[in-house]
Amino acid sequence: MITKKIENIGEEVIPMRYDVARNKIRDILSKSKEKNVDVLQKVVDFLYNSFDKYSWVGIYLVKGDILVLGPWRGKEATEHIRIPIGRGICGSAALTGETEIIPDVNKDNRYLSCFISTKSEIVVPIKKDGKIVAEIDIDSDKRDAFTVEDKMFLEKIADMLREHI
Ligand code: SME
Repeated sequence: MITKKIENIGEEVIPMRYDVARNKIRDILSKSKEKNVDVLQKVVDFLYNSFDKYSWVGIYLVKGDILVLGPWRGKEATEHIRIPIGRGICGSAALTGETEIIPDVNKDNRYLSCFISTKSEIVVPIKKDGKIVAEIDIDSDKRDAFTVEDKMFLEKIADMLREHI
C-alpha cells in the first residue's frame, strides 16, 4: 500500500529517513538562492508529506515582537496566525532561542491550542546573525511524537533555512 508520507521501494514500504530528507531539502533549497516564500512552502510541504507523525507543519516569521504565520500545510488552518513573542510554546521558543519539545500539550499550561487532535508539538527557532528570525512549528496527533532525532534533524533544517528568510 502506498499512502502519503511513505516511500515505496520495490515491494517494500519504508519510512522516510532523516538523512535522505535532509538531502532532499538541500536539493529544494539549492534551486532557490533567494529569499522566497515559495521555497519555504516547498520545504513545509515536503516535511508534511514525508513524515506521517508531522500532522501540521508551519513556519512563523518574526515581525517586531510578533510571530506571523508564513507557509503552512495541514488538514486545517490555525486561528493563531499572530502570536506575541513570549506567548504559547511558539512565543517561548522565540524568546529563549531554544527548541521546545512538548510530549503532551495538554500538560503544558503555555500551550495555545490550534487543533483538537494535537497531542504533541516541537518548535525549532531559526537564527540569523544571532537573532531569531523565524521558527518551524510542527504539531503531531501522536503523543510524545518528537525524539532527539527529530530535534537534530529539524535544527539542521532550521540552519539551512536561515538564508531563505
Ligand atoms: N501551539 C502553538 C500555537 C501554534 S499552533 O500549534 C499551529 C503554541 O502553543 O504556541
